[in-house]
Amino acid sequence: MARKFDVVILGAGAAGMMCAVRAGKRGRTVLVIDHAKAPGEKIRISGGGRCNFTNLHTAPQNYLSANPHFAKSALARYAPRQFVDLVEKHHIAWHEKTLGQLFCDDSARDIIRMLLAEMSAAGAVVQLQTQVSAVEKTPDSFRVETSNGTVEASSLVVATGGKSIPKMGSTGFAYDIAGQFGIQVIETRPGLVPLTLDPNTLEKLAPLSGIAVPAELRHGKTSFREALLFTHRGLSGPAVLQISSYWREGDEVRLTIEPDIDIAAAMKLARRTNGRQSVQTALATVLPKRLAQFFAESQSMTGTLADVPDKAIDRLAGMVSGWTIRPAGSEGYRTAEVTLGGVDTAALDSKSMEAKAVPGLYFIGECVDVTGWLGGYNFQWAWASGHACGEAV
Ligand code: FDA
Repeated sequence: MARKFDVVILGAGAAGMMCAVRAGKRGRTVLVIDHAKAPGEKIRISGGGRCNFTNLHTAPQNYLSANPHFAKSALARYAPRQFVDLVEKHHIAWHEKTLGQLFCDDSARDIIRMLLAEMSAAGAVVQLQTQVSAVEKTPDSFRVETSNGTVEASSLVVATGGKSIPKMGSTGFAYDIAGQFGIQVIETRPGLVPLTLDPNTLEKLAPLSGIAVPAELRHGKTSFREALLFTHRGLSGPAVLQISSYWREGDEVRLTIEPDIDIAAAMKLARRTNGRQSVQTALATVLPKRLAQFFAESQSMTGTLADVPDKAIDRLAGMVSGWTIRPAGSEGYRTAEVTLGGVDTAALDSKSMEAKAVPGLYFIGECVDVTGWLGGYNFQWAWASGHACGEAV
């Protein structure tokens, strides 16, 4: 005999748990199923263990999607402040790190405990370590076959996330369900991911490995000003993760190192005040030493500053502020924080997340083709889409 619920949610991650809270509070009977041993594993590892749970500046422009308007409704109906209110209700201390990014003072586990407490208060039941083997639509409900028996519900919510970090059990299961019901999936790609370099470039940049520096990274009309990190595989750091979501194989990325410093002016001033110093030494007053050496050597500027004409200084400064690199690839889903693409928003109702052609079937969170920038935007989408769906199921 199948156990019956009003709502069955597949995935006890950020979106699934928020949806369960909202639906349970509305008096719906809710079962949340997850194949993992613990709920909210991505919350636990997020933000370096402190969970960057939202961003105060959340706006639709901070998201990538084939339909940039889709996220507007859900985001407008569940603002970052509403999540902060919940966090404060549970006496979780938080702080703003930078750029509107809010983190727990202590641990990301506080957010998981908060969601579990809210779910329990709302009467939602969580069933872990449960494999889903089949999903079937009957005339008036959905039947879900699991390793712990069959369950039935009039609403089925798919909240199983994307493909990033397969080691954590990410499966792409949501895309299979979408396919089963004839719902389009926009091609998926790793997002917020370090970029790799070809062996030649990597060899040239090897001495820079480990250097972090403020930078602006540009791809077409999109640019981000944050830290850039040179690694033994290529480029990483927040600025790189951000631009990686826009970058495509074969494209170039333009780097401006220390975008707030006028390198040419600094070098010319150094030439006036102490012309006997080397180019490298002067450049090292505004850039990390190894980076200064790299730029000076790649322009063959090994002499003293006094001997260097304006033109050569301008050329050097031009390289520092307009360095073009063509990444070879990305580190892929293995390290990507998110999955770009996903369930086509054209198939979903933006107010409820319900599949237009399959009444009662919903998709929320990362599995939907809405992907945020780095900085708490992805959790805010998980909360907002989960909340919108929880209001509707
Ligand atoms: P999520 O992946 O959280 O949950 C899906 C759930 O479904 C999981 O519990 C999984 O076990 C379950 N599941 C999957 N397949 C299943 C199946 N076949 N059967 C049953 N259950 C299944 N974002 C942000 O805003 N701030 C941050 O600080 C970070 N930091 C961060 C760090 C790292 C290392 C990563 C990888 C990601 C982030 N993110 C982030 C992104 C953020 O974690 C992500 O956007 C959300 O977790 C997405 O929430 P969902 O609920 O949609 O999926």
